[in-house]
Amino acid sequence: MYEVTIDSERCKKDGLCAMICPVGVIQQDEKVTVPKISDEHVAHCIACGHCMAICRHGAISHSEFPATTVQAIPFEQMPKAEQVQMLLRTRRSIRAFRDKPVPKDTIETIIDGARFAPSGHNSQSTEFLVVQDRAVLNKVSVIVIEYLKFEIKRFANPLFRTVALAADRDVAESGLHEIPRFKQMVQVFESGADPILNDAPVLLAFHARRTVGFGDVNAQLALQNASLVAHALGIGHFYTGWVLAPCRAPMARAWNRRMPNLLGIPPDNNLYGALALGYPIPKFKNMIERKPPRIRWA
Ligand SMILES: Cc1cc2nc3c(=O)[nH]c(=O)nc-3n(C[C@H](O)[C@H](O)[C@H](O)COP(=O)(O)O)c2cc1C
Repeated sequence: MYEVTIDSERCKKDGLCAMICPVGVIQQDEKVTVPKISDEHVAHCIACGHCMAICRHGAISHSEFPATTVQAIPFEQMPKAEQVQMLLRTRRSIRAFRDKPVPKDTIETIIDGARFAPSGHNSQSTEFLVVQDRAVLNKVSVIVIEYLKFEIKRFANPLFRTVALAADRDVAESGLHEIPRFKQMVQVFESGADPILNDAPVLLAFHARRTVGFGDVNAQLALQNASLVAHALGIGHFYTGWVLAPCRAPMARAWNRRMPNLLGIPPDNNLYGALALGYPIPKFKNMIERKPPRIRWA
C-alpha cells in the first residue's frame, strides 16, 4: 500500500488535490481545512501522481514519488497545437531502411516516450522487447510466411472452409478474402524480398501479462507514443501487423504462441504490438489528406 501524507504547515488548503484524486484518497471537508487522507480509500490509490503534479506548495508526500523525482513543468517548452498537428500530419509508415543500426540511446528515448502513455488503472502494463539480432529478425519473417502458407493450405480444403464458415461466418469470409493477398506476400518473399519487416534493423515489440485488464489497449497506446517519438527523432517505422497475425489466428492454437516463443516473450504474456524501426531511405516531401472524419454530434 502506498503512503500518502499532507504537510499541514505547507498546505494552502486550495483543495485541488482532493478535487483531482481519481479514487478519493484525498478528501477535503470544507475549503478552509487541510485535506485528509482517507484510510478507507488509500488502498485504492493507483499511484497516478495527480496529487504530486497538482500541488504547488510541495505539501504532499507520496511513497511512489520521492520529492527529488518531481519536476516543475517548463510551460514555455510546451509544443504549440500547430506543432503537434504538424507532427501528426507528417508521420508516415516507412518501409525502406538504411543498413545502419539505430543507437541504443535513441531506442531508449523512444521507449521512454512510450511509458508515458495512459493505461487502464495506471497499470503501466506494457513491457518492451528490442530485437536487433538479424537471425531472429529473419526468422520472424519466415514464421509469418509459414503461417500465411498454412492459411492458404487450410482454406484450400473444402472441409475446413465448411467448418470455419459454420463456426464464424464473418471471420471465415474475411480469411477467405485475404487469401490472394497472402499468396502475393509468399510470392514476394520467395523472390528474395522481405515484405514482412522490409529489412528493418530493429523490431520493437509491446507485450503484457495476459491477465491485465486493457493490456492490449495499453500496449497500442504505448506503441503510438513510441511511433510519434520515433518520427520526431527522424527514425522511420511502421506498424508490423503481419508479425501479430499468427498470434491472432482463429482456430489455430499451435500458431498463436509461435511468434512470442521465438521472441522469448514469457508464457504469461501476450504480444500486442510491434514496430519495425530504422533510418529511413525515403524522405517524404508532401502532406497528404485523409478522409474527412465521420462525426455525429449528439
Ligand atoms: C493495425 C495495423 C497493422 C499494420 N500492419 C502493417 C504491416 O504489417 N505492414 C505494413 O507495411 N504496414 C502496416 N500498417 C501500416 C498501415 O498500412 C498504414 O498505417 C496506413 O497505410 C496509413 O499510412 P501511414 O501510416 O503512412 O499514415 C499497419 C497499420 C496498423 C494500424
